[in-house]
Amino acid sequence: MNPFFKFINSSVGKKILMSLTGMLLSIFLVEHLAGNLLLLKNDSGEAFNAYAKFMGGNPIVRTMEIGLLGIILLHIFNGIRLWLENRGARDKKYDSYQLSENTTLQSRMMKLSAALFLWFLIVHMRTFWFHARILGEHDIASLVYSTFQQLWYVVFYLGSLVVVGFHLRHGFQSAFQTLGLRTKKYQSLIDFIAVLFWFVIPAGFAFITIFIYLYKGNAVALAQ
Ligand code: HEM
Repeated sequence: MNPFFKFINSSVGKKILMSLTGMLLSIFLVEHLAGNLLLLKNDSGEAFNAYAKFMGGNPIVRTMEIGLLGIILLHIFNGIRLWLENRGARDKKYDSYQLSENTTLQSRMMKLSAALFLWFLIVHMRTFWFHARILGEHDIASLVYSTFQQLWYVVFYLGSLVVVGFHLRHGFQSAFQTLGLRTKKYQSLIDFIAVLFWFVIPAGFAFITIFIYLYKGNAVALAQ
């Protein structure tokens, strides 16, 4: 077997792949949050729509989007492989034990948060990405404003962001461990970066969600 595929199929290779794809996806969130902050402007969504138009029309961005979807699928596929591998190893090792004795709460929560995260992503892509990229709609800002006037959607988003924060927190912890970055020298820098991703970014998305719910009802009324 090709040495690269041999490495990627090994336990440590799968963990490294998981860490690297997770970190790349987190970097996307920084760009996504920055773009979404345009929704807060008092301009009936003009700046955000111009940004969405640019993102949808630029060939380089479109190619990067395909890369992003590829990385999301790779992260999910590799996560399932790792989970199956761990389960197989546990079954062999601890045949006579109860599952709850051997499965740490954290790893269970990680799987649960991954499943909820995926559910959120599917709903999210169906609500916005499908309209912007597949149906080719232009006024995505109005779509976001009207979607976030529904209280159930706001609650679903805020709940999902807690799950996203949890998943990123534990994801970063184990990625730093796997990549050997958790050294004493860089401890505070690593902790700072982790907090930025697991807390500040989800909190930023939550702020946008609440702000739109509270203050963008007028923009929806004017558009109708
Ligand atoms: C206030 C919260 C959010 C808003 C208003 C929002 C809005 C949008 C919109 C309008 C799109 C579709 C088209 C475009 O890129 O312009 C989109 C795409 C997407 N969003 Fe969000 N988003 C939010 C939070 C999140 C979160 C928390 C995640 C993941 C953790 C996420 C992941 C994605 C992904 C993966 C895409 C597809 C990207 C692409 O292919 O370009 N979004 N979002």
